[in-house]
Amino acid sequence: MSKAGSNTLQRIKHLREQINLHNHNYYVLDQPGIPDAEYDRLFRELQTLEAEHPDLVSADSPTQRVGAKPSTAFRQVKHEVPMLSLGNAFSDEELKAFNKRVCDRISWKDLIEYSAEPKLDGLAVSLLYEKGLLLRAATRGDGNTGEDITDNIKTIATVPLKLLGRNMPSRLEVRGEVFMTRKGFERMNEQAKKAGEKIFANPRNAAAGSLRQLDSRITAKRPLEIYFYGVGILKDFDMPTTHSEMLLLLRSLGLRVNPESRVVKGVQGCLRYYNNIGKKRDNLPYDIDGVVYKVNDLELQQELGFVSRAPRWAIAHKFAAQEETTVLNAVEFQVGRTGALTPVARLKPVNVAGVTVSNATLHNMDEIERKDVRIGDTVIIRRAGDVIPEVVSVVLERRPQRTQKIKLPTQCPVCGSAVISIEDEAVARCSGGLFCSAQRKEAIKHFASRKAMDIDGLGDKLIEQLVDESIIDHVDDLYHLKIGQLAALERMGDKSAENIIGALQKSKTTTLSRFIYALGIREVGEATAQNLASHFENLDELMQADEEKLQTVQDIGPVVAQHVVTFFKQKHNLEIIHRLQQAGINWPSIQKISGDKLPLAGKTYVLTGTLSGMTRDEAKQKLQALGAKVAGSVSKSTTAVIAGENAGSKLEKAESLGIPVLTEADLRKLLQKP
Ligand code: IVH
Repeated sequence: MSKAGSNTLQRIKHLREQINLHNHNYYVLDQPGIPDAEYDRLFRELQTLEAEHPDLVSADSPTQRVGAKPSTAFRQVKHEVPMLSLGNAFSDEELKAFNKRVCDRISWKDLIEYSAEPKLDGLAVSLLYEKGLLLRAATRGDGNTGEDITDNIKTIATVPLKLLGRNMPSRLEVRGEVFMTRKGFERMNEQAKKAGEKIFANPRNAAAGSLRQLDSRITAKRPLEIYFYGVGILKDFDMPTTHSEMLLLLRSLGLRVNPESRVVKGVQGCLRYYNNIGKKRDNLPYDIDGVVYKVNDLELQQELGFVSRAPRWAIAHKFAAQEETTVLNAVEFQVGRTGALTPVARLKPVNVAGVTVSNATLHNMDEIERKDVRIGDTVIIRRAGDVIPEVVSVVLERRPQRTQKIKLPTQCPVCGSAVISIEDEAVARCSGGLFCSAQRKEAIKHFASRKAMDIDGLGDKLIEQLVDESIIDHVDDLYHLKIGQLAALERMGDKSAENIIGALQKSKTTTLSRFIYALGIREVGEATAQNLASHFENLDELMQADEEKLQTVQDIGPVVAQHVVTFFKQKHNLEIIHRLQQAGINWPSIQKISGDKLPLAGKTYVLTGTLSGMTRDEAKQKLQALGAKVAGSVSKSTTAVIAGENAGSKLEKAESLGIPVLTEADLRKLLQKP
């Protein structure tokens, strides 16, 4: 008879139902409902209850199997050697306990050698090579039976269809993780969004969804990658004696293995590796959720063997979760430098990876709609590295009866001006311009920032205080601040006030590109400011340039050109620039790099149509390198139009204006000029 009370029984039943549901969402639908951390907690609670009441363990409990049911859409593949899962360690103590279990079981007195590597957040697969040829690929499925995904795996460029080298095992079943880099994932989602297709929640789901496409032509377009980390079968080949040698063997056969893998000794070695990878984590191009340690000696692995779900010789040491759930209490709109309104979620405070999070960005109204976020919802919050925490998704199963839709305000929450949304643009903006104190504050913060005027000690809080107390209104007012005014502020001593005045003085000597960047023209970042500075060489020329002229500058298209022209059309902006120059802001004049001597100096070309030997951008750069200007539209000052295949209206305009038209062959000759 079980000693468990009816409450425990109920709880176990509830946990099993919940876990089964989440397994289905995660493995079959590729749509996780809750963060991994929460799943892990449910799973652990069930494991603990079952350990306390072994008589209640049933064969169909989710603790008794590895993954989820394979879906029926693909042909099923039975794994000759089951694909197991890994036990988890969530703390140093749990790692120490694992190491002790290993040592005790094999009566080992020395330090154990482990092969350590990142735990990729992707999808486990098994690839079978016979006589060096890729014969079949399968997902893990439930560990015993997976799905045949051979055609899809073959679309991954880095998977060899034939192994390298002459010396080859007759049979090799190799295991690894298919994943997507964060960059690849973002690019793919951007394209999907434009095409109105399904957006994936994270790189793992995107990888899973791509790999389990029934149409492998779709998989081929997805940026999938793979690292191999283990072997199921190796026939007619000398078995290496350690896991690390096995990885070297895989590499020599042309199979990609993670370059971060290392051999470490004992718990201390494991922890050093864990901390190192933890520091590197945000800079790795892919998501990882921990590291895996495997007893390096393959004979010892054999001796240690398995327990139901996982090997005794390996463990996953997880990082603190980056995702948690909490309740969305309210949404406020913040106004940025360009007036853009960003919805910010006010949350019930929650600890995410050791930091209390009570605010998270919701990005913009499109994102709110796409995720169907409402006030009162339980939401998943993600915090990674130094990035601002964001609301990832809603836990729909926990939506209360009454929720409130999030509405875009019609008036700016700071200055009351009308809020304008432009069609096809995700962001809504306050139309108050510099009347809006929020926009003024942000403009001044940008002006003072390190890559702009670099005014040391003039932090965000201080700028807000100065604007709130009407001590300054615009950037030029900074240069009229007096020590006394600053020193009179709360929490500001004479010394700090003096330092800030010193920093302001110092910032007056700057460079043209920093100054252009500091003005905060929309879409003009550091690189664009540099291009503008080296092209125009002085501010007056830039201020007078029209859109056509601006588009002859490297990397400047019609949108940026328009922003620049609009900025310098505003009387108010011209006044501020004038006052800044009067206050003594200066930069060394840029020496003309003997541009006149370049063979195409003074000439302006327009490129149109498709070139066969190079892209239009390459042609533009080559012409510019010879001193020519390349414009976006044809005018009387155009020297010639260079027309490729299918040239359209620009060619017509050139003909009507009597401007010479050159072919691609003419262009090549032009570029060969000494
Ligand atoms: S070894 C018997 N190494 O984690 C040991 N697994 O939670 C099998 N994973 O199913 C796994 N990176 O999908 C191993 N470097 C790595 C891994 C790794 C990711 C995944 C794999 C496995 C799951 C277990």
